[in-house]
Amino acid sequence: MSDAAAARPIALGVNVDHIATVRQARRARHPDPVHVALLAEQYGADSITMHLREDRRHIQDADLFDLQARMLTHLNMEMAVTDEMIDIACRLRPTDCCLVPENRLEVTTEGGLDAAGSIPRLRDAVARLAAAGMRVSLFIDPEERQLDAAREVGAPVVEFHTGAYAESSGGARARELDRLRRAARHGEALGITVHAGHGLDYHNVQPVAAIPQIVELNIGYAIVGRALFCGISTAVAEMKALMRAAR
Ligand code: PXP
Repeated sequence: MSDAAAARPIALGVNVDHIATVRQARRARHPDPVHVALLAEQYGADSITMHLREDRRHIQDADLFDLQARMLTHLNMEMAVTDEMIDIACRLRPTDCCLVPENRLEVTTEGGLDAAGSIPRLRDAVARLAAAGMRVSLFIDPEERQLDAAREVGAPVVEFHTGAYAESSGGARARELDRLRRAARHGEALGITVHAGHGLDYHNVQPVAAIPQIVELNIGYAIVGRALFCGISTAVAEMKALMRAAR
């Protein structure tokens, strides 16, 4: 554990989208992602993430408003950069919102936003969301030019897409980890707060949690999958313990 890392705590954002995936399989009322989110908060989640996808395949609009009214920590709304989503976010006013690329045919968010290639659109979106009081984050690949673009559009936070790290192994994984480390240092030098997420699980989380500039991890699939065996309380508490031990 390095002193720099020890000095900064790391937060766990729990993504409950896949609780809603199960509910929507029957268009039923349970399992309720809000109920699970409130339990996750009790067992160590520092925030809750919900991704309102344009096709509403899992989280529904009402889930966000219901959670926002009842939660004790804070809400991170993930969303595509569309007028519809920006309007909803401005009504909901979560503490955080994270702009992600969205493609209807994808199973999950496949890559980061091309912030460098969408400066005017992102500058406008960030300005509208920030004016409504939200802290805006951009979900990007861990690349310097994307960080530079985040700074240019005025985003105070980025979340690094850790999918390439999570899906690789051996030397390739070591190179992806190094890419995350270098990008995290660049983010800090720019004054940007750095988060990370996607594909993180109980086996691969610690090297990422050990990167001192990364102050929040957003994790969904692994926690929801583990909760099937041991319950959400244990699944959240175990992930939090692994993250803390890595610091
Ligand atoms: N962060 C962002 C921006 C995401 O889009 C996702 C996936 O919805 C996650 C984190 C969580 O990824 P996972 O479900 O693989 O933990």
